[in-house]
Amino acid sequence: MKKDINDRNDLILLVDTFYGRVQENLVIGPIFTDIAKVDWAHHLPKMYDFWESILFGKAVYKGNPMIRHFDINDKAPLQATQFEAWKDIFFTTVDDLFQGENADTIKQKAQSIADLMHFKINSPKPKFPII
Ligand code: HEM
Repeated sequence: MKKDINDRNDLILLVDTFYGRVQENLVIGPIFTDIAKVDWAHHLPKMYDFWESILFGKAVYKGNPMIRHFDINDKAPLQATQFEAWKDIFFTTVDDLFQGENADTIKQKAQSIADLMHFKINSPKPKFPII
């Protein structure tokens, strides 16, 4: 029986395994390695903070993921195929390593954030903001 995601150390294992797989994935790997040229020593701790904030309500992440992804989208359009690949790798990694209430919650949160991100990125920007 697998354990649940209980603390930051569990998130570190999840995030490290997830981005290891992301780098090898042909659909989204090149966005990280060739286009954004991610500095992993900088990115991974940010992602530990991000998920600790989302899953455990600890306000350790300071950042604005939407702005980062709008920038990435300008260089490499992020469409359904890319989001499906991201979610597929994330869910499989969670399921390979963990099971339980928090494992279910993190998948639901990832799904909601990914879908909202996809929606915002693909919504037309009004020329004159309404509000
Ligand atoms: C098509 C799907 C996605 C792609 C290709 C993608 C790619 C990237 C890349 C290239 C970075 C920049 C890393 C860097 O330069 O340091 C980044 C940052 C980040 N991504 Fe994504 N991402 C995707 C979806 C998501 C989703 C669904 C989430 C959340 C559930 C997410 C959360 C984040 C966060 C929190 C950061 C750090 C932002 C910061 O600088 O504070 N990403 N992503």
